[in-house]
Amino acid sequence: MSGTGQRLYEKAKTKIPGGTQLLSKRPEMFLPEQWPSYYSKAKGVEVWDLEGNRYIDMSYCGIGACILGYADSDVDNAVKSAIDSGSMCTLNCPEEVELADLLCELHPWADMVRYARTGGESMAIAIRIARASTGREKLAFCGYHGWHDWYLSANLGQGDVLDGHLLPGLEPAGVPRGLAGTALAFRYNQIEELEAIVAENEDQLAVIVMEPVRNYEPKPGFLERVREIATGIGAVLVFDEVSSGWRLNTGGSHLLYGVTPDIVVFAKAISNGYPMGAIVGIGDVMQAAQNTFISSTYWTEGIGPAAALATIRKHRRCNVSEHLIEIGDRIQSVWRQAADRSGLNISVSGIPPLSHFSFEYENSQAIQTLFTQEMLERGFLATGAFYATYAHQDCHVESCLAAVDETFAFIAEAIERQEVEKLLKGPVAHSGFCRLT
Ligand SMILES: Cc1ncc(COP(=O)(O)O)c(C=O)c1O
Repeated sequence: MSGTGQRLYEKAKTKIPGGTQLLSKRPEMFLPEQWPSYYSKAKGVEVWDLEGNRYIDMSYCGIGACILGYADSDVDNAVKSAIDSGSMCTLNCPEEVELADLLCELHPWADMVRYARTGGESMAIAIRIARASTGREKLAFCGYHGWHDWYLSANLGQGDVLDGHLLPGLEPAGVPRGLAGTALAFRYNQIEELEAIVAENEDQLAVIVMEPVRNYEPKPGFLERVREIATGIGAVLVFDEVSSGWRLNTGGSHLLYGVTPDIVVFAKAISNGYPMGAIVGIGDVMQAAQNTFISSTYWTEGIGPAAALATIRKHRRCNVSEHLIEIGDRIQSVWRQAADRSGLNISVSGIPPLSHFSFEYENSQAIQTLFTQEMLERGFLATGAFYATYAHQDCHVESCLAAVDETFAFIAEAIERQEVEKLLKGPVAHSGFCRLT
């Protein structure tokens, strides 16, 4: 176990408020005081900590970014060549036009593309374009979309509006109170909630923004009705595919459901670990980006587009999504079978490439922490989520099955003896955003 990583993290918290730049990478979200925290090398699905301990990543795999696996050779070679050609210049890199062509070819309903480098930035741009294009201000949204003011403003009135949207406890401190009432939340598959928002705000809604799929499949007619509503009131429909994109097919998952948005946003998996974000949309709406100032130096560098082109081409060539679905399906049955054998009560959700499970007990968070602790001892980075990659192979599923079997049996016994908390070697993991001490 890596004491070096823990010591570095303790220091980090004195130099970096919140310890890291991403909530989902905080060791407290996995295994406080025990998580390796830092890596020295990552390749395929293997991760080495600062002391050289090796783990198999059966968790978030770069928080959903490394869909092909860590340090994929094809993508890395494209990036190295972009570096060798000079990744930044006074002139523009031609790859961004090549990528625009490829994204519009994959999404035939779309005409134009803008770029950023992260999911949150890209979503901020999408909302700005939608507001500029409609001249309206309010938005109806469902799901998590990032750290920006427009999203957090939903928590300005009632502090817990965002709790049902993936990450609980998000604090809007520092977000202007003037934004209160501009971001209105509805829940996935609850069309009546969107209809109620529309009934009260029809001519003020600039945009309806949501993920086409996340934890559950859309109910029949749900996405179609959202599309119909957006068209009916003249709002821009934005599909956030920062997480759902490239998992079920090459491109946005909305292509599978046959419902097209006005804008779709990609980031994370589009470029397998190199910063890249794309805002892809219909010409009429995207042209509004010319009426407002959206501009940043590093949105023009060459590594992101080179990585995205290599990732998408490999994705298409190797039918990566088929592999992700198969591996995700198998991990869901690993969890279910091990739970059946040990008599544990768990609930499994998510599209197979973005699989989740949770323990159905009062002290579920303590049990989840014990699961992570025990899996770590067996050489796995593991939590209640598994994001499949192209680098996960049969051998990983099989060794994971053996470890999950042992761990679930151990947990079942701990629950029976009421010893879960006693067996933890550190504090219980956090379940959402909170201030670190
Ligand atoms: C659906 C969705 N939108 C937006 C974001 C924000 O992306 P980023 O963390 O790159 O800013 C995320 C991140 O998890 C996401 O899952």
